[in-house]
Amino acid sequence: MFKGNLFILTVLVGLSSWFNSPTVLAAEFNSPKLNDLLHGGLQSKGPVNFTKFFDQDSTQKFCSELKPVVSSDEAKRLMSENLKGIKFLEDGAYIGDWARGELIAQSGKGLRFNDSENTKNGGNCYACHQIQKEELAHGTLGPSLYRYGEIRGYSDEVIRYTWTKIFNPQALLICSNMPRYGHNKILSISEMRDVMALLLDPESPVNQ
Ligand code: HEC
Repeated sequence: MFKGNLFILTVLVGLSSWFNSPTVLAAEFNSPKLNDLLHGGLQSKGPVNFTKFFDQDSTQKFCSELKPVVSSDEAKRLMSENLKGIKFLEDGAYIGDWARGELIAQSGKGLRFNDSENTKNGGNCYACHQIQKEELAHGTLGPSLYRYGEIRGYSDEVIRYTWTKIFNPQALLICSNMPRYGHNKILSISEMRDVMALLLDPESPVNQ
């Protein structure tokens, strides 16, 4: 009895690892049948646009490979391409209003099926980051940003780095999981300034 169960278990484990093997997954992703199913099943609605999902840019294509080599020359080329698209501010006024920045960081609105085209996008930063310590409902996919300026300082380099990160994280880490707020126009320049203030204004509660 025991031996029989063990045999079935071995066969099941073997089968499941075969189904999950990169060759099988690659074959499935390239299959026209799967493509038809995805195209038929995923319907664009409101601000959710699946054309973009299927029509990936070069960075997305690279990061959708089964094993993207993030140290490759192609990765470096794509990062510098992303870097070129970053809009740095001529007036150097990167620090807006931290209180407005907190509202943006808290808001997960926008770009969802039930939003309209006019819904104001939030940054949803708390979904992935700790920021103010009073907010306990935060995700942990990204590093904690609590005491961000206090720890890293307020130098021009830190400001430029943080702006780059918020504008287009893939310019510094090719397959970063963080959204490209400036690149994809999720937030406006002035909203990104406010989020910058939340992290980098010495008066912001984040740095107290
Ligand atoms: C979907 C998850 C996700 C969301 C939403 C997100 N981030 Fe991130 N963030 C990450 C991850 C993952 C990293 C670490 C990898 C990297 O550096 O790209 C990161 C890194 C960062 C860094 C660099 C931290 C360091 O110590 O160098 C900053 C700054 C940052 N995020 C700010 C923000 C802000 C501001 C928002 C909202 C406007 C935001 N993030 C929204 C996932 C996210």
